[in-house]
Amino acid sequence: MKYYVLLFFVGLFISCTENNPPPSEELLTGIEYNPIPFDIEYPAYTQLIDNREVIIPEMPIPVDNPLTEDGVELGRHLFYDNILSSNNTMSCASCHLPEGAFTDNLAVSPGVDGIFGNRSSMSLFNVGFFDNGLFWDGRSTTLEEQALLPVEDEIELHNSWEAVIPKLQESDLYKKLFRKAFGIEKPSEINKTLAAKAIAQFERSIYSFDSKFDQYLKGEVFLSDDELYGFEMYIDAPGVTDAQCAHCHNLPLMTSNDYFNNGLQEANTINDFLDNGLGNVTIAAENGFFRAPSLRNIELSGPYMHNGSLQTLEEVIDHYASGGKFSPSKDPLLDDINLNAYDKFALKQFLLTLTDRTIINEERLQSPF
Ligand code: HEC
Ligand code: HEC
Repeated sequence: MKYYVLLFFVGLFISCTENNPPPSEELLTGIEYNPIPFDIEYPAYTQLIDNREVIIPEMPIPVDNPLTEDGVELGRHLFYDNILSSNNTMSCASCHLPEGAFTDNLAVSPGVDGIFGNRSSMSLFNVGFFDNGLFWDGRSTTLEEQALLPVEDEIELHNSWEAVIPKLQESDLYKKLFRKAFGIEKPSEINKTLAAKAIAQFERSIYSFDSKFDQYLKGEVFLSDDELYGFEMYIDAPGVTDAQCAHCHNLPLMTSNDYFNNGLQEANTINDFLDNGLGNVTIAAENGFFRAPSLRNIELSGPYMHNGSLQTLEEVIDHYASGGKFSPSKDPLLDDINLNAYDKFALKQFLLTLTDRTIINEERLQSPF
């Protein structure tokens, strides 16, 4: 009896391999495709600042890539999977770790071949809100477009999508995840456009609105006297020292999403910057301009600035208090920052209220492997 059963299965196997289409054409329609929208939870603030309500703007989401639970889940897998790198040793998360506010806490980052880039990894918290150019110099416009780049970047993952896609098409895990995320019918439909869409969905799910400062805006907690003084300085409230911060890092995302020269690099003429930043993308007059990043979770993402040249928040505050280094495009606001020892202390206390400790450990943002 046993032999008959065995023979039956052997026969079935042979006939399957004879008649079946190649693996890339295998039908996946047996796997359920039931997209459920992924909801972003916006905080409701009650505290008025400057007599105005504080409102988180709605995240811009492309119509052809709505967030779904399964899309975000696929993106999370791709984000944490070494399969994207040439020698299977690195993933996006190697340079964007949750505990570092999705940075690697290095001044500049080594890629798969151990070669260092010349810019510091950026936090990905709330990156879905940044619609005025990505990267320190704004050279990439959408998360979908950006997600394609690290895989083929010679310093970062140093691979090619032509090499990655067949690996994804052959993986049982990814066949299932792509089917569930995008309703594909065959593995041959897995391509880099869908991979980038899924990574972008995961990135949009990395939002963070539960810092002490958020709890204060929601009316749930009070700030200490020092934190409150630091906040008032931050927004140039009347009667306190002006720190000018909110002109460039404004509420509630703690960034104006715009580009400035904050006096980090010394340059005698507009053509003397070590790194031109925005000027490489736009015009020479904007040499030395970089995107003012969000200061949410800033405690976790040091070292700071595009080149990782400032190690601590104290060094950052000292930099601003000094007025920055000379260059023709330096922002004039830098000359109006005069901070005494207590001002510096209070400002730092306020910056520390921007840390969201819940989100760092949230299961849905951790590696699925
Ligand atoms: C070797 C380290 C490294 C790896 C690997 C890496 N990144 Fe980055 N990432 C960086 C650096 C450095 C920057 C800033 C580069 C610049 O501005 O020129 C950056 C910037 C970004 C930004 C822009 C954020 C913003 O606010 O503008 C996004 C988004 C991003 N990375 C996503 C990814 C994704 C997705 C992957 C994987 C596909 C990835 N990164 C892999 C180092 C890395
Ligand atoms: C004129 C606009 C401007 C003002 C005013 C300003 N910043 Fe910035 N800030 C920037 C820009 C631009 C960068 C990125 C510069 C770079 O990397 O070259 C930056 C970077 C930072 C960073 C590092 C962020 C990171 O992810 O590495 C911190 C921290 C910071 N600013 C804090 C402050 C504080 C605190 C104040 C007030 C004392 C302040 N800024 C005032 C424009 C400004």
